[in-house]
Amino acid sequence: MDDITALILDDHAAFRRGFARLDDARDPAELLAVWEALALHLDIHAEAEEAILYPHLVRHGDDGAEETEDAIGDHNKIRDAIAESKLHEVGSDAWWAAVWRARRENSEHLAEEEDEALPDFRRHAGVELRAELGARWLRFYGEHKNGRNLPFRDKDPERYVQDHR
Ligand SMILES: [Fe+2]
Ligand SMILES: [Fe+2]
Repeated sequence: MDDITALILDDHAAFRRGFARLDDARDPAELLAVWEALALHLDIHAEAEEAILYPHLVRHGDDGAEETEDAIGDHNKIRDAIAESKLHEVGSDAWWAAVWRARRENSEHLAEEEDEALPDFRRHAGVELRAELGARWLRFYGEHKNGRNLPFRDKDPERYVQDHR
């Protein structure tokens, strides 16, 4: 059975590849094709973490509350940049500005998640729990294929922590 942390790292690798593909896209149609898929994946991934990973980390991590508050704040910044990109013509300066903001925020966030949140999670989650959450993660992606029934709305980081402690 898949470990949730491995599934998360797979997504992170896909995000890095997705942004690299944007560098190679040569016209608006290619940019749109790469960005639409990447943006949707980023949005679904954040929702999946907020539904499955962070509720556990906030309760059991050594610095769970702080790491969770940071992560929700980062997810909001990435969501905002994605939403901003959709207001502009693909390939325009304003579109690129929003996409680069998403890229920078995401790169910073992945590093924090991989170096702080996930190590903390691993210290407190045994193999069985990781497998159980991994199964939930896969189900979440199936239930929310193409973002079905996900609002992609920002969440108040402090409120999220209070609600899940
Ligand atoms: Fe992540
Ligand atoms: Fe995240």
